[in-house]
Amino acid sequence: MAKKIFETIEEEIIALKKERNAVLMAHNYQRGEIQDIADFTGDSLKLAQEAAKTKADVILFCGVHFMAETASIICPDKKVIVPDFDAGCSLANMVSPEDILNWKKDHPNGVVVCYINSPAIVKTVSDYCCTSSNAVKIVNHIPADKEILFVPDFFLGTYAKRQTGRNIRVWTGYCPSHALITAERIQEMKAEHPQAEFIMHPECGCLTKSMHLADGVLSTEGMLRYARESKAPEFIVATEVGILHRMQEDNPEKKFYPASDQSVCKYMKMNTLEKIVLALERLEPEVKVSPEVAKRARVCIDRMLAIS
Ligand code: 13P
Repeated sequence: MAKKIFETIEEEIIALKKERNAVLMAHNYQRGEIQDIADFTGDSLKLAQEAAKTKADVILFCGVHFMAETASIICPDKKVIVPDFDAGCSLANMVSPEDILNWKKDHPNGVVVCYINSPAIVKTVSDYCCTSSNAVKIVNHIPADKEILFVPDFFLGTYAKRQTGRNIRVWTGYCPSHALITAERIQEMKAEHPQAEFIMHPECGCLTKSMHLADGVLSTEGMLRYARESKAPEFIVATEVGILHRMQEDNPEKKFYPASDQSVCKYMKMNTLEKIVLALERLEPEVKVSPEVAKRARVCIDRMLAIS
């Protein structure tokens, strides 16, 4: 049968999604054109919650690898596909299961909290998972006498430690894109835009130096909510620049200044509309976690979802 011709690639994706009974999830850092055709956009927590609820047969996850892995763990009966299998996350690979097991040898009663930006295998040796939107809540849920190891993000772990006052040993991983946002530039921008509110993601490398200046330290979805609800006319936005697409679309009358226009995650940008078409046609590349790993990794994810 002749292949149907579509006027636009977006129309082709919509038809393929219907044919495959697929849902398209896009993280807030995805290219604007991908966010525009997504069924759901959101931060890591929102997308995991939507994955848990979906009735679709196929989840096309436009984000980075650990996000698709999490969806596969939560939805073992669904096919989880991605536009580009090599879209990984540098931060996620900065801690290994061996690192955690070594800490646990010296701290047998310690509790391990792993940021969702970690591979499934790291989640198998963690007690609780968290995202940037619920890290403080998860830490507060853990009995006060427990020592905590927080992996792999140093800045989110430090934020949770400061907010809760808890005994937390923080791993030293970091996001290379957020490391490019500097405290010096924030100071300059605040001077250039005195009317602007300043919102920052807790992964920012300048978190400890700049959080006292912030009007909000928030996940990407929290930043989008803040920008919609605030009466301020201008915002300095400290996170990966992909967030500015929807922020500007949601608030055409407001102005948004990226704290660094260099803060671009090359992995998030590997996904394209063309690769989405191929993935839906071929139903691959598939992200699948072995049942044994998934069963063990799911414990800390389910704990997080129950608390959130
Ligand atoms: P959120 O999705 O929780 O805002 O965090 C951003 C991120 O870490 C993407 O890798």
